[in-house]
Amino acid sequence: MIEQHHQNKVFIAISLDGYIANKDGKVEFLDTFPAPPGDDMGYSAFTDTIDALLMGRNSFETVLGFNIPWPYTKPVFVWSHTLTQVPDELTSKIQIVKGSPFEVLQQIHALGYQSLYIDGGKTIQSLLAHNLIDEMTITTVPVVLGDGIPLFGQLDEMKKFIGISSKLYPNGLVQNVYKRG
Ligand SMILES: NC(=O)c1ccc[n+]([C@@H]2O[C@H](COP(=O)([O-])OP(=O)(O)OC[C@H]3O[C@@H](n4cnc5c(N)ncnc54)[C@H](OP(=O)(O)O)[C@@H]3O)[C@@H](O)[C@H]2O)c1
Repeated sequence: MIEQHHQNKVFIAISLDGYIANKDGKVEFLDTFPAPPGDDMGYSAFTDTIDALLMGRNSFETVLGFNIPWPYTKPVFVWSHTLTQVPDELTSKIQIVKGSPFEVLQQIHALGYQSLYIDGGKTIQSLLAHNLIDEMTITTVPVVLGDGIPLFGQLDEMKKFIGISSKLYPNGLVQNVYKRG
C-alpha cells in the first residue's frame, strides 16, 4: 500500500503530437524556442519539491549522452533490468533499481525518499497503469514531430486528472499542471 505522503511527480516537455523525443531518442526539439532569459520555466521550483528521481534506463542513457557534468543534485534511481553498473564517477549519485513498479517504489521509500520525480516515457506509463502518478507538469513545445517516443501509451482504462494550472510562456510554450483525479 502506497501511503498518502508518497508523491510521484512528472515534469516533462512534449511536442504538440505528444512525443518526448524523436524516434532516435533525441530531444533537440526542446531547444526550438529558448526559455525566457533567467527563467527556468518552473524547473528549480519543481525540483525543490522532490527528494529523489526515478528514471528509466533510456532516459539515463540520454542524459549520459549529453556529455555534461551530472546535472542532478538529488539522488537518482535508474530503473533497469539490464544495467549492471554505472560510470565510476556516478556511483555515489546513482543506484540501479529492479522489480515491479511497487517493488521499485518500496525500495526507494525504504531509503527515506517520499517525493519522487518520475522521468522517462515507459517509466511514466508503467506507474500510470498502476495509478501511481500523482501529479504531472506537462510543457508543450509547439512543434509537430510526426514520429518519436511517446509520453503515453496503451492503458486498460482511462486515467483521470484534474487541471490545476496553465501558463503560456513568452516563448510560446504552454505549461499545464494536473493532479490525479
Ligand atoms: N521531453 C522530455 O522532457 C524528456 C524527459 C525525459 C526523457 N526524455 C526522452 O525520453 C526517452 C526515454 O523514454 P523511454 O520511454 O524510451 O524510456 P524510459 O522510461 O526512460 O526507459 C525505459 C527503460 O526503463 C527500464 N524499465 C525497467 N522496468 C521498467 C518498467 N516496469 N516499466 C518501464 N520501464 C522499465 C527498462 O530498461 P531495461 O531494458 O534496462 O530493463 C526500459 O527499457 C529518451 O529519448 C529521452 O531523451 C524526454
